[in-house]
Amino acid sequence: MASWHDYPATAQLNPNVIRLKEPCLVLLIGLSGAGKSTFAARHFRPTEIVSSDTCRALVRDDEADQRATADAFEVVHLLAKLRLKARRTTIIDATNLKRADRAHIVKLAHDTGVGAAAIVLDVPRTLCHARNQRRPGRDFGPEVLELQEARLQSDLRSLTEEGLAPIVVLDSVAAIDAVVFERR
Ligand code: CTP
Ligand code: MG
Repeated sequence: MASWHDYPATAQLNPNVIRLKEPCLVLLIGLSGAGKSTFAARHFRPTEIVSSDTCRALVRDDEADQRATADAFEVVHLLAKLRLKARRTTIIDATNLKRADRAHIVKLAHDTGVGAAAIVLDVPRTLCHARNQRRPGRDFGPEVLELQEARLQSDLRSLTEEGLAPIVVLDSVAAIDAVVFERR
């Protein structure tokens, strides 16, 4: 979990309402176990969500098969590109913790004249770890989450420079649960 001074100056911290000007691309950002897929399923239609895990399963029948990652992201990028061309709001459900990965997807949006928003689910690493322990296919060691957290902490502050707006940071389970969307 990052501390408040890691957040970008322009970030909306724990808003009750997230306003989306549609169509838009939304990047969910957070550690494995932060609750991205749960959050996406709660607020968006299944067809609006482009999930790296679903794409892994589509190419290798197993959403946890890391060998499928490169192919899965080809599918993620293609789906995002085609949906944005059709001006459909698209939620990218992946950890989105690497700057280069985010840049690729943000460019797809900007190339089609669509805005890209970021929603960061910034919950404690210990909570993510505890949740992952109870999930099949997430039995990786603590160093994986430590690396993910380090990436988040180092990149959070400069998210603004990546062309993402708005940037929303939700820093607790309560803040995540309280959010509603206003789509215009
Ligand atoms: N979960 C929970 N309470 C929440 C949110 C999630 O108990 N408020 C549980 C989910 O049921 C799931 C686990 O925590 O078993 C991880 O949530 P998920 O939404 O799948 O996390 P992701 O961020 O999507 O994780 P990953 O990057 O690994 O896909
Ligand atoms: Mg998920």
